[in-house]
Order: sequence, then structure tokens, then C-alpha cells
Amino acid sequence: QKSSSWSALFAEPMNELVKRYTASVFFDRRLWRADIEGSLAHARMLAAQGILAAADLQAIEAGMAQIAGEIESGQFEWKLDLEDVHLNIEARLTQLAGDAGKRLHTGRSRNDQVATDVRLWLRGEIDLIAGLLAQLQGALLDLAERNTDVILPGFTHLQVAQPVSFGHHILAYVEMFSRDAERFTEVRARVNRLPLGAAALAGTSYPLDRESVARALGMEGVCQNSIDAVSDRDFAIEFTAAASLAMVHISRFSEELVLWMSQNFGFIRIPDGFTTGSSIMPQKKNPDVPELARGKTGRVVGHLMGLITLMKGQPLAYNKDNQEDKEPLFDTVDTLKDTLRIFADMVAGISTVPEAMERAALRGYATATDLADYLVKKGVPFRDAHETVAHAVKTAMAQQVDLSQLQLADLQRFNPAIGQDVYEVLSLRGSLNARDILGGTAPAQVRAQVARHRARLA
Ligand code: ARG
Repeated sequence: QKSSSWSALFAEPMNELVKRYTASVFFDRRLWRADIEGSLAHARMLAAQGILAAADLQAIEAGMAQIAGEIESGQFEWKLDLEDVHLNIEARLTQLAGDAGKRLHTGRSRNDQVATDVRLWLRGEIDLIAGLLAQLQGALLDLAERNTDVILPGFTHLQVAQPVSFGHHILAYVEMFSRDAERFTEVRARVNRLPLGAAALAGTSYPLDRESVARALGMEGVCQNSIDAVSDRDFAIEFTAAASLAMVHISRFSEELVLWMSQNFGFIRIPDGFTTGSSIMPQKKNPDVPELARGKTGRVVGHLMGLITLMKGQPLAYNKDNQEDKEPLFDTVDTLKDTLRIFADMVAGISTVPEAMERAALRGYATATDLADYLVKKGVPFRDAHETVAHAVKTAMAQQVDLSQLQLADLQRFNPAIGQDVYEVLSLRGSLNARDILGGTAPAQVRAQVARHRARLA
């Protein structure tokens, strides 16, 4: 009878608190499917290389099938004493398959095993996230398409700047989320490499065929340095960085949704199912979903800081510090997936209040630049035109009217070249239509961008 589950070397059992402190089974059990997949690929390669007998492989395969069933049905008994997902599954396999189970770990260490498991698991999650990002982009495209001709006051410094198409504004977010999708694709390629065969840190003396294991697992290649293979977690850090950026984009959008649905703006409505009431103020409908998403962005960015700090002082190769990579990584994945899913649904239900947006655009002299451009076309140098229009705005402010409501005679006092055609330029819609340049806000351009994005996502 061994006094410790580790080996004969240990004279006394593990301290109870230390056992709990060092165990990861309560959170890393979610890697079980990847753990079994990796073990089966390893065992099949061992058999093909003549390191494991065919009968042992069969026993391992049958045992793993049973274990998968037990875990899926909730019957598997996870044991704290067995520290982590890897040792729990291996111990159960040995119960079921006897010596064959004990042979599975030949040429392998938990160090290359855990790195492989996390990569396999994360690869699957990245694929789910890619699908959710596509859904969100699809919902935003629908919203943009429905509102291509709706005029929103575009802001800089949160001051009314120039009128833009609401659809154009929404397409800015489609651009951001499409770059997020690209980033995840690039990260995926670096996640999808195989550490197995690195063993503890130095490689192994068994004639393993690492390339065949990589192929069997659908990986794009093997990690080329055994020391790096077991100690690198930058794949997890860059995933979390990409997730942080995606959340930052969600957060900026959230901030705008919160503003837009406040009484002072009143630009949009979001479906009741995505708002909450107040326990004291009966009139309230609060935008809790965007607010929480903005808050959860801080949490994901915090995980990025946690992971990057986790790595900075570690000497090569594997250190137990790395066990701390899992909770932040798992929580990042959970938070991002939930957020993307909810936003795709919520965006589908957003409706706009075009009159409110137009009224706001009219209040802010949003066509002042258009008047300056009009004067430039009449031969006035731009800097002079800029100054002239400032005077016109001052006059309009004093009269409490929009530029388009000034009399022609008044306008002509600023510059005699101004004619009746100026009123086309001073209208919000005229301003919008004038920006008919690639990437600009003219509705024709917006429609072309919607079509481009649709083709890209198809
Ligand atoms: N639970 C560990 C982790 O998450 C597995 C690897 C442990 N390896 C070791 N040599 N203690 O990193």
C-alpha cells in the first residue's frame, strides 16, 4: 500500500489543504473530450509504431468509449485526490483496461498532454466563436440595410459633426467584427499545432511518429521544440487578446446603444426582452444587456492582463503556474460566446426612430462643411470658406434657426456668390448624397458595402 498516490518516494500523504490548492479537476474537467481524443491518437500511433500491442490498444479504445459515456451521462466520479482531468481519466481507464491503461502514458507527460488538450479544446471554441461572429455580422447587416436612408447625426467629440447614414454607422461595426473574425482565424493556425511528443520537456526516446498524431488530430503541424512545446502559452494569450478586442468593439457599440435609447437621444428602441425594469421607478426600461456587456469587457481585458502576467516570470520549461491559465481562458470563452449570441439576437430586434435622429442632426449645423465646400466650388479658398461659414453659423444661432432656414439675402451678405442652389447643399439628404466616394456615407455606397459584406459572409 503506497502512502501517496504519486510514488513510493513520498513518505506521507498530501496535506489536505495543499491537495485542494493544487487540484484543477473542478475546472479542467471541461477538457475531457479533448483529453480522450488526444489519448486515443497517441495510443493508435503507439500501436502503429509497435510500441503498444494491438490488444492493449483495443482495451484502451473500449475503456475510453465507456469513460466518455460515463462523463456524458454524469455518472463519472471525479476525484479530488486525482488532481486533474488527466489523472482522473487515466485512473478510470486503468480500472477498466488494467495494464493496457497503465501503458497509455508511454512516451508522454502531463506537460505535453495538457498543452495538447487546451489547444484541441480552444480550436473547437474558436470555430464556434467564428460562427457567432458571422451571425452578429449578419444581424448588423440587416439592421444597416433597413436603415440605409435613415439620417443620423454623426458625432466627433460627441458633438454633432456631419449627417451620416445610420446604415453606414452600423457598417463601421461590421468592419470591426470582420477584423475580429480574421484575427481569430490567424490565432487558430497557431493554436492548431501539436505539443505531444515533447513529453516532460526534452522529447522522448521512444520512436514516436509525431507527424501522424498531428494529422490524426487535424492539426496543422507539430511544435518543433520540445521545451517550447510544453511551456508556451502565447496561443492562449493571443486568443484572449483577440477576444478582448472583440469585447472592446461590443463595448463601444454598447455605449452607443445606451446613449441612443436614453430619453435625451431617443434614436432607437431595443426589444423589451433585452431590457429590465426598476424595482422603484415604474416608468423605467433599462438597457442592462449593453451595460453588462460593457462591464464584462473589463473582465475579459482583466483575464488578458492575468495571463500575460502569469507568463512573464516563468523560467523554461513547464511550471505549475501554467495551471492558472485555464480559469481565465475558460471564462473568456464563456463570456465572449454568451455576449455574441445575445447581441446577435438583440440587434435583430433593434428599431430606429428616424425623426428623432433627423431632428438632432438639424439642431447641430451638421451641414456647415457642405456650405464651405459649396463656396470652394464657387472659387473661394477653403480656409476663407471655413471662416465665412463660421459667421453664417453664428447668425443662424442668434436667430435660433438651422443654416437651411436662413434667407438667401442673409446668406448672400456672407458671400455674393451664393445662389438659390445652396439650399440643396444645406439639406441633410443633399449632404449625405454628396459623399458618394468609396467608403463614404452616400446611400449608394452603403448599399454597395452591404452587398460586399454579404458576399464575403456567404
Ligand atoms: N493540471 C496541470 C496543468 O493544468 C497538468 C500538468 C501538470 N504537470 C505537472 N508536471 N505537474 O497544467
